[in-house]
Amino acid sequence: MNKKPTVYCCKNHSEIGSVTAALIADAIKKNPNLVLGLPTGQTPVPVYQELCKMYKAGELDCSGVTTFNLDEYFHRGKGDPDSYYTFMHEQLFDHVPFKASYFPDSSGELATEIDKNCKQYDALIESVGGIDLQILGIGSNGHIGFNEPSSTWSEGTAFVKLTPQTVSDNAKKFYNGNELLVPKTAISMGTNQIMRAKSIILIASGEDKAKAISDTIDGIVTPRVPASKLQNHDDVTFIIDEDAAKFLD
Ligand code: F6R
Repeated sequence: MNKKPTVYCCKNHSEIGSVTAALIADAIKKNPNLVLGLPTGQTPVPVYQELCKMYKAGELDCSGVTTFNLDEYFHRGKGDPDSYYTFMHEQLFDHVPFKASYFPDSSGELATEIDKNCKQYDALIESVGGIDLQILGIGSNGHIGFNEPSSTWSEGTAFVKLTPQTVSDNAKKFYNGNELLVPKTAISMGTNQIMRAKSIILIASGEDKAKAISDTIDGIVTPRVPASKLQNHDDVTFIIDEDAAKFLD
């Protein structure tokens, strides 16, 4: 049976960082070999800053923790300044040592090759026992990972196309509004796969996320709002600020 989700309403984006980092640190204390799923984007930046601070202060040991990132832009990766690999290294992995950190393999030309890479990522996650704690952001259209609104739920890691809404959101946040520079395709974990994480924390900041948050928590469960599926998970925590919470019942 599903439990009602826990919702922490924070004063601002920076408090989302400290509250979320404290929960992650707590999970690592309880299980030093935690398998942690991680997002990129603007929302987790203060979370990663806080984890870096904790590590520097000697309060955090991630040496047994294995991480899996949710997604990677297609044909980007190590060495590409626009890749999520680079983003995660700049924000976290260059500062805090982890046991191992994995990203979806975004190489490959033929559909069969891409599919094989995706299946290998899924198998790797399974081989370490699945994700214990998954951190998620949310798109203004309700996407999680890069699972965009659709008529069906996505299953495992797969090639995805970003919607014009997501391209425009990412352009504003990371490319000075220039949509031509934004990657339009990616490899993302699937929604059903994300649901298999033992516990999930979703973070959201800002008014542009308010509708997606109310649709996710109070709306109907539909693949048109991929995050709404979290209503069927029995261990989900939302850590959001007042602006993102403004349409909640
Ligand atoms: C990225 C990811 C996406 C982002 C979402 C919100 O790895 O999984 O679902 O979490 O697009 O992005 P920000 O935080 O930039 O608003």
